[in-house]
Formats: sequence, structure tokens, C-alpha cells
Amino acid sequence: MPGLLSSPVCLTVIWFLSWSLPPSRAQIWSDEVSDVQFGRLESNVTLACGKSQISVPVVWRHNHSSVSSWHQVTFNGSLVLFLVDQSAQGNYSCYDDSGLLLHSVILRLGYPPGLLSISCRVPNHTFVRCTWKDSVKTFLPAKYNTSFRGKEEKEPTKVCIVDSTNRRCVVEDPAFWQTIHTFGVTETNALGSQTSYRRIRLNELLKPDPPRSVFIEEVEGNPSKLWVTWKNPSSWPEDPLFPLRFHIRYRPQGSMHWSEVIQKQMMTEENSIEIPDATPHHSNQVQVRARDDVSPESQWSEWSAPSFRTPWRGNKPGVCCMNVMPVVITFIQFPHYH
Ligand SMILES: *[C@@H]1O[C@H](CO)[C@@H](O)[C@H](O)[C@H]1NC(C)=O
Ligand SMILES: *[C@@H]1O[C@H](CO)[C@@H](O)[C@H](O)[C@H]1NC(C)=O
Ligand SMILES: *[C@@H]1O[C@H](CO)[C@@H](O)[C@H](O)[C@H]1NC(C)=O
Ligand SMILES: *[C@@H]1O[C@H](CO)[C@@H](O)[C@H](O)[C@H]1NC(C)=O
Ligand SMILES: *[C@@H]1O[C@H](CO)[C@@H](O)[C@H](O)[C@H]1NC(C)=O
Ligand SMILES: *[C@@H]1O[C@H](CO)[C@@H](O)[C@H](O)[C@H]1NC(C)=O
Repeated sequence: MPGLLSSPVCLTVIWFLSWSLPPSRAQIWSDEVSDVQFGRLESNVTLACGKSQISVPVVWRHNHSSVSSWHQVTFNGSLVLFLVDQSAQGNYSCYDDSGLLLHSVILRLGYPPGLLSISCRVPNHTFVRCTWKDSVKTFLPAKYNTSFRGKEEKEPTKVCIVDSTNRRCVVEDPAFWQTIHTFGVTETNALGSQTSYRRIRLNELLKPDPPRSVFIEEVEGNPSKLWVTWKNPSSWPEDPLFPLRFHIRYRPQGSMHWSEVIQKQMMTEENSIEIPDATPHHSNQVQVRARDDVSPESQWSEWSAPSFRTPWRGNKPGVCCMNVMPVVITFIQFPHYH
């Protein structure tokens, strides 16, 4: 070891460390990290005045003010806080009778984790996203670890990649043929940990995103026809092995009653349908939703955002004058071209 310690590389490292972290700063940094005490709200919390036994009388301050009188300093200098609420958080410091700072500690209060409510979304056969919500607000930072396993014990546990900030995780390529999976998430904070489980059937949760790019066109010469086109959800594979089924509904704008059509996916890039009985001279509203065409227990997607279109209006003889209108428009627009 002496040979190693005196090697130029090692000495350089030691020199660099001592230069970059002056001892006093390093000391403060480690104190700040270690001297955070976590306590449970509505409980009694005891704060010690340093780690060693203190015999002298001590004075405690909270956020640099004297502590409220209903708290109690014990014979050994510890401070007991009774039935703490949020306002008891902060910086506690204890001093000896000459006013010398002996110790300080940051108190943070909250609750241990409770059970989580879990929900999972399956927008296609290769993707599961589970999210969770607190049933108890803990007020404390938490970490999460998860597991995703099939019914068979031998089946290896799938990793669910956790996004702690958004409280969700993603499993890619789940073993879809296993009908029942168990998703577990453990929340851990400074006061404890709690695991919540949810049993899920992927084929029942399978619910595509809504179809995209729903466009309606009028049909030239026909005042009661509309031509509707749309695209598969972008999260659905463009693959004949995963056919979709579509549900189209339409009504004159303002009506309560929908007309509906179910259609299987055509094996073309664009899906389309002709509506033969749209309401003439009226804005018609159209929406489309999608479902996996193979598993009958899967779910319909949400409806696409409503699209509107009035069918071809044609010319009403005697009402509008085809030959006059263009002349009028040209006349009005004339000055703008100069
Ligand atoms: C807090 O301390 C008081 C006084 O010692 C005691 O009566 C009470 O039961 C304690 N409460 C809890 C939640 O421990
Ligand atoms: C001081 O006394 C309290 C009880 O009065 C005890 O809980 C605590 O552990 C003691 N602290 C030290 C540093 O001995
Ligand atoms: C003390 O400071 C903490 C953190 O800034 C704050 O949450 C708490 O309400 C303060 N309490 C009092 C009594 O000043
Ligand atoms: C807490 O208060 C003490 C005494 O005033 C001070 O030395 C210490 O730096 C404070 N800690 C923090 C994290 O503000
Ligand atoms: C999270 O990790 C802990 C400790 O390793 C373990 O006991 C717990 O079962 C894990 N949680 C899940 C849901 O797998
Ligand atoms: C399945 O859905 C996820 C999330 O929307 C997406 O990232 C992924 O590309 C989709 N997979 C396929 C095969 O389309």
C-alpha cells in the first residue's frame, strides 16, 4: 500500500480531491444530507440534541425562533413535539446555556405510503402502460419498484420501466397469450413501504387509440351522400395479422339520434365508407372508433373527435344566378389586384 499511496497518480487524485472539496464545505454538505429527520404527522416526534448524551440545559429554536411552549425538553436535552402538524416542519437547532450551537436538524413530516390505485392501458399487443395514484397523500418523496408477472410461476418477471415523476411504467412485449398477469408496485418513503397489486387480463384491457385523420367529403351531384375516410390509430401496427373493426356513427348536427355502421378494416392504407343517407342541406357530424377484430372481449377505442360536413348542395334554379355571381365577385375584388 505505501508504494501505491506514493504513486504519482494516487497523489494527484488526493490533491485534486482536497483542492475541490475544502474540508469545511464537505462537512456542511454531509451534515445537510444526514441531518434530516422524518416524522409522521399527528404523532409525537422526539428530536435529539446531537448523538452524544447532553447533561447541560439546552435551548431549542425552530426556524430561528424559540419553540412553542407546549413542546417539552427532556432531561437529556431531547425535544419532544406533541401531535405534530405541517407547521412543525423546519430547521430545529439546540444551544447550550452560553448560546453555542450544539446541533441542528431539519424535520420533514408526512405519512407512510398507503395502498395505491392502479390502472393499466393496452393500446396494442406489444405495449402495456400502468399508472398509479395515492390513496393517502404522504407529503414525502417516494421511490417505486414494480413487477409484472404471468400466471405461470416459471415465467420470468417482466421489467416495467418506471417513470417515478409521472407514476407510471411501461412493459414492452408482454406474454400476451397468458390471460392473467399480476402487476405489483411498491412505494417506499422515509417512513415505510407498501406494495399494491392488480390482476389484469390483457385481452380485456386491449383498447386501441381512436382512429386518426377523419375526413368527410361531399359527393358531387348527390345531396344526401357523404364520403368518410380515416386512418388507423398511429399506435396500431399496420399489419394484416392485427385487423381492426370500425364503428361509424353520424347524425345531423343538433340531433339526438345517431345512425350507425360497423365495418371491418379494408386491407388498404386508408379506410373509407360512403354514407348514403346523410341529411341534405345540413351539417352532418361523423365519428369513428376502432376495436381489435380478433378478440371479442377487447374494448372499443374512444370516439374520434367529431368532424362536420354538409353534403353537396347543388344549384337551386331561380334562387341563385350562376351567371351573375362570378361577375359580381370579380367586380368587388377588382381594386385589390392593383
Ligand atoms: C403523545 O404523547 C402524549 C403525552 O405523553 C400521550 O398522551 C399521547 O398518547 C401520545 N400520542 C401518540 C400518538 O403517541
Ligand atoms: C433522551 O430521552 C428520551 C426519552 O425521554 C429518549 O427517547 C431518547 O432516546 C434520549 N436521547 C438520547 C440521545 O439519549
Ligand atoms: C418553518 O420552516 C418550514 C420550512 O421552511 C415551514 O414549512 C414551516 O411552516 C415553518 N414553521 C414555522 C412555525 O415557522
Ligand atoms: C439550521 O439552523 C442552524 C442554526 O441557525 C444553521 O446553522 C443551519 O445552517 C440551518 N440549516 C439549514 C439547512 O438551513
Ligand atoms: C420491490 O423491492 C422490494 C425490495 O427488494 C421487494 O421486497 C418488493 O417485493 C419489490 N416490489 C415488487 C412489486 O416487486
Ligand atoms: C404500441 O403502442 C405504443 C404506445 O403508444 C407505441 O409506442 C408502439 O410503437 C406501438 N406498437 C406498435 C407495434 O405499433
